[in-house]
Amino acid sequence: MPLSKIAGIGMYVPEQVVTNNDLKKWMDTDDSWIQERTGIKERRLAHRTEETTTTMAVEAAKIAIERAGITAQDIDFIVFATLSPDYYFPGCGVLVQRALQMKEVGALDVRNQCSGFLYALSVADQFIKSGMYKNILVIGAEKHSMGMDYSTRGRNVSVIFGDGAGAVVLQPTEKENQGILSTHLHSDGGSAEILAQYNPGSHANHWMETPVADFEEAEVGEMFMSHAMIDKAQLFPFMDGPAVFKKAIVKFPEVIVESLTKNGYTTEDLNMLIPHQANLRISQFVQQKLKLRDDQVFNNIMSYGNTTAASVPIALCEAWQNGKIKEGDLVCLAAFGSGFTWASALLKW
Ligand code: UT7
Repeated sequence: MPLSKIAGIGMYVPEQVVTNNDLKKWMDTDDSWIQERTGIKERRLAHRTEETTTTMAVEAAKIAIERAGITAQDIDFIVFATLSPDYYFPGCGVLVQRALQMKEVGALDVRNQCSGFLYALSVADQFIKSGMYKNILVIGAEKHSMGMDYSTRGRNVSVIFGDGAGAVVLQPTEKENQGILSTHLHSDGGSAEILAQYNPGSHANHWMETPVADFEEAEVGEMFMSHAMIDKAQLFPFMDGPAVFKKAIVKFPEVIVESLTKNGYTTEDLNMLIPHQANLRISQFVQQKLKLRDDQVFNNIMSYGNTTAASVPIALCEAWQNGKIKEGDLVCLAAFGSGFTWASALLKW
């Protein structure tokens, strides 16, 4: 059974740089609070009208496809991970198919938030290993800026997130000892409401002890989205940051070690860990817990913030472009986020 390898990788971040101090024009915050708690110095925000999650994804995909030495017409399947799609439906995969004038290939959208890219990669990996497809485009992209509360009310969430996209082309390997060795996927829905965007949705407060929208007065046609939801700022994401932090620092090391153990390796064998860029403090905690050297961990959250499904492919791309990942290196990708879901992939570059 052939393993799958990353044959090409690309990233795209919008031009607009927004520093911590720039955020002050919208909210009461300060640079030192953001840097001390998260490590973030600046993030990129997409153009308000000219860029979407899909347009950014397409830019990243073009680079990945070119670097794989193929054309868009050679792609035989698309897997797209995002929590900020252009449309509620259809998903972004079909928009990529259209934008890149691909053949009428399958396009699958994945909704696993910060772990989304790794879930997408794992699905693609199975299709390659089974022999069903030969060139799969796997994308993680987000335009968070479209749906964040940039007032002081939403500052505990909005300062963290940034926009961008990353993409890879997966192909079967011809070489021995190269490619994705294993992927590991987990979830714990017990904490689904701790980091979530409840509205618009079909929940009708069903899962909540404290209602998150007013449905009592709503007519049937107003259940999805109402003026009250807008007036009460109920259309923005909710995050219990400290609760997420506590779980993340347990599950990140666990899933990294799981991938190493499964393949007979230890942390000393690891050349590079690419953690989901959630918070620099989380990455530092994981590094300390696993006793990894600085050169074994890559972080770029300082420049881009947390780009959710895009963060792992953007970080992987930048680490590779900066010469920090070379052929034969043992690389671990790991993520944790809303759901909760968490995941890892171990690969030989
Ligand atoms: O990838 C998705 C997964 N998400 C994560 O991994 C997030 C994990 N959690 C975190 O990264 C951290 O919990 C945060 C960075 C979100 C928050 O840091 P914290 O140290 O947990 O702060 P906190 O939420 O406990 O808030 C502490 C204080 C509060 O003020 P009071 O109540 O102590 O007076 C907040 O109102 O900081 C205040 N605060 C801010 N102050 C300035 C919250 N946001 C801001 C802000 N600027 N942007």
